[in-house]
Amino acid sequence: MDNFTFHNPVRLIFGQGQIAQIAKEIPAGARVLFAFGGGSIKTNGVHAQVVAALQAAGLFWLEFSGIEPNPRYETLMKAVHLARAEKLDFVLAVGGGSVADGCKFIAAAIPFDGEPWDILAKRARVNTATPLGIVLTLPATGSEMNCFAVVSRDETHEKLSFGSPAVWPKFSVLDPESTYTLPPRQIGNGIVDAFVHVVEQYLTYPAQAPLTDRMAEAILSTLVEIAPAAMSNPPDYQARANLMWCAAMALNGLVGAGVPQDWATHYIGHELTAIAGIDHARTLAAVWPGVMAVKFEAKKAKLAQYAERVWNVREGSVDDKARAAIAHTRAFFESVGVPSGLAPYDLPADIADQVAARLDARNQAPLGEHGDIDSAMVKRVLAAA
Ligand code: NZQ
Ligand code: ZN
Repeated sequence: MDNFTFHNPVRLIFGQGQIAQIAKEIPAGARVLFAFGGGSIKTNGVHAQVVAALQAAGLFWLEFSGIEPNPRYETLMKAVHLARAEKLDFVLAVGGGSVADGCKFIAAAIPFDGEPWDILAKRARVNTATPLGIVLTLPATGSEMNCFAVVSRDETHEKLSFGSPAVWPKFSVLDPESTYTLPPRQIGNGIVDAFVHVVEQYLTYPAQAPLTDRMAEAILSTLVEIAPAAMSNPPDYQARANLMWCAAMALNGLVGAGVPQDWATHYIGHELTAIAGIDHARTLAAVWPGVMAVKFEAKKAKLAQYAERVWNVREGSVDDKARAAIAHTRAFFESVGVPSGLAPYDLPADIADQVAARLDARNQAPLGEHGDIDSAMVKRVLAAA
């Protein structure tokens, strides 16, 4: 087991009717930036619940709407200017991962001395941020319980991430009922994103961390078990509740404790969103088979363990089990409506060259748990996907 520090200060407030709790969580006298996306929260009653809670607490707030999926720097900077001009001192994000991430960037940029884009492009240090809380309506990214964010810039077609202890949410409210209005596409995306977050931290090489492995397997098995009911309409409260809990646990540091981590699928996937606008989770299902094919030898011991424990594959050699694990995973993605492999997606013919050139330009490769996926190997991954 590797050395690690585990620290997660997010107060997670979970369950039906819990949005009202934000009245107690936001400091008295705060001037709140209440930020949200394209309007889903107005159709499912979440906006009304947030307004009721803010009123109950006697808080002043201004609304900022229109944070897009894959939140754009250009839009977020408008919120930063509003917050600075109005001296807003608490950011409340209400929506999916894009709103949560966008608000982490807003919170970091408000007091930032300099060009806020540098936080993403130059990894400029974020020493302080306006305090932030989240009301989550889409289980997927884990943003509700981590200190990372991903932001896109229209002008340059870039999608970049940052992380800072300054942007840990003070609290996150997870009410499974707020997910009832999600279209099946977003539920499927959420299941795949949470699943791949675990897999990025689990499918590497054996590291003698059996507790961390079993926690990862518990999340994967739970996602497999609840997926059919989570996809169902009318919505199933218990399935949605367990999906929300899985997604939060998948990327809050716990299943990364003491083990090597990969993340190649995510880094390559972010480029597919930046270039072709594909939903985040779909890029993962597109790229993941390629990473498994190219890194098969290095990963097969963990793939076989995963096959046995999550998919109950008992027969065959290590290679057979590892191959079965990949096939089961691809079928699982398809079962929640997310096509797997590159072929089903509409991508330019030179996509592999474009992705490799972008990673090179940013010195982002080599990727993977062994740090050996250089840009030439990224091309092989995309060819094999
Ligand atoms: O904008 P609104 O109207 O709210 O609609 C959204 C959006 O169109 C809609 N939606 C959200 N909650 C809803 C709902 N529709 C009906 N009912 C509800 N309850 O869903 C659409 C997609 O929302 P979005 O927030 O974009 O999805 P998601 O949560 O999947 O977030 C994706 C973003 O998170 C980043 C991704 O790269 C992407 O930019 N990620 C963030 C991570 C992190 N912070 O740790 C890690 C992830 O790997 C990921 O990279
Ligand atoms: Zn993800």
